[in-house]
Amino acid sequence: MTDNLPLRGKVALVTGAARGIGRAYALRLAQRGAHVAIVDFDLHSYKDYQLEAESMRGDTVVDEIREIGMRALGFQADVTVATALDTAVQQIVDEWGRLDIAICNAGGGVGPPEETRASLVEEDLVGIVLARNLAGTINTCRAVAAMKVQKSGKIITVGSQAGHRIESNGGYAHYGAAKAAVAKYTQYLARDLGPFDITANCVAPGYISTGRLPPLLNAMGDTQLENVPLGRYGTPEDCAGVIEFLASNLSDCVTGAIIPVDGGLTYA
Ligand code: NAI
Repeated sequence: MTDNLPLRGKVALVTGAARGIGRAYALRLAQRGAHVAIVDFDLHSYKDYQLEAESMRGDTVVDEIREIGMRALGFQADVTVATALDTAVQQIVDEWGRLDIAICNAGGGVGPPEETRASLVEEDLVGIVLARNLAGTINTCRAVAAMKVQKSGKIITVGSQAGHRIESNGGYAHYGAAKAAVAKYTQYLARDLGPFDITANCVAPGYISTGRLPPLLNAMGDTQLENVPLGRYGTPEDCAGVIEFLASNLSDCVTGAIIPVDGGLTYA
């Protein structure tokens, strides 16, 4: 018989979890029995997008986790500020005594595709995107490596299909490069933390239909779906399923892996 609470009593941290895919990760971990802390530079960021706001069942994801019946903490903090992560992790350990699972999800791109081709992308956009995706991930991983004292843990970073395939319009070169670096960093981390029984894996989502993306996906049209063997965009729930696997003991012998969640877009 399978346990429908495979993460019972585990303590998790999810960054960028105030909306979108990160929210789905946080709620899924709570539904599987974990206590969850979230970090986001705006715990009300869902208000930026109507569809995200309409899907909320509480004032913040912290309230939604508590509604599920699990303990929750919320930190309004920027992952590009290393000390903010150190403080959050210290408080989690002080409150709950340990940290078992960390999902480094905060990230994203900036700039229009036509202005972010490899030969055009401006220095300021490069700086923002590298900070948000790569430095933010490294800051988070360094802080959660406090797991070493427990000699167990699951770290999951978030890359993108853009880190492994090149969009035909050539745009978002800075984002693709940052996400490729996140994936490679994760493999170094897996090597570093293996002796402590801590796994480190990277999920690489394809086109995922959050409440933020419908205008973008509509603009791309059905031609993008022709490149997706499953013929549909992914959902936050699709991504959460893979996170659940990587956070549970089903994946105890999986580390340094880059797992696409993309309907086959990248490799099929
Ligand atoms: P989103 O933009 O809807 O949500 C990101 C959340 O992270 C927001 O709540 C935002 O406030 C927070 N955040 C951003 N920068 C932060 C920072 N420096 N410090 C703290 N919080 C910060 O993004 P979405 O679509 O949910 O994506 C989540 C992750 O998945 C990102 O890393 C993104 O690059 C990646 N991804 C998303 C894909 C998609 O199709 N939606 C495809 C491939 C990767």
